[in-house]
Amino acid sequence: MKMLATFNVNGRDRDTVIAPHMTLADVLRDQLRLTGTKRACTGGNCGACTVLMDGVPVCSCIQLAVNARDRKIETVEGLAKPGGDLSALQEAFARNNAAQCGFCTSGMLMTAEALLRSNPRPTREEVKVAISGNICRCTGYVKIVDAIMEATAAAQEAAE
Ligand code: FES
Ligand code: FES
Repeated sequence: MKMLATFNVNGRDRDTVIAPHMTLADVLRDQLRLTGTKRACTGGNCGACTVLMDGVPVCSCIQLAVNARDRKIETVEGLAKPGGDLSALQEAFARNNAAQCGFCTSGMLMTAEALLRSNPRPTREEVKVAISGNICRCTGYVKIVDAIMEATAAAQEAAE
């Protein structure tokens, strides 16, 4: 059985046809072509598929898409500024070489984005705890934490 569904993604309502068993990651990638969200373990264990749902980071591979219809979804494609320039957090990742293969990067960015919105002045330890559910198979954690710490200055400015 298929159904018509509307998803609010990155501030825009998007209509598509879904099946009841589809996950939010399936809909984002396969229906809406937002392939920045990665699918890896598909079991909620690695964080590669992290998106924000009503501002909270969730693993989109274990969220049923039907339950995401009335929620505000944010993906990595929505992080850039309206003109297309990278956000301060994305810039910090680029400057610090915080991506190697890049497979974990969108999930890391979304988790870090949620952290910096709720806590613009995290300690290094708080950053480590926040990203503890995101696995980097390339093990580039030091540079990822460096990048998030660098982005705290912009997050603090935005919060003031
Ligand atoms: S792909 Fe969703 S947690 Fe790994
Ligand atoms: S950069 Fe390769 S998995 Fe993190």
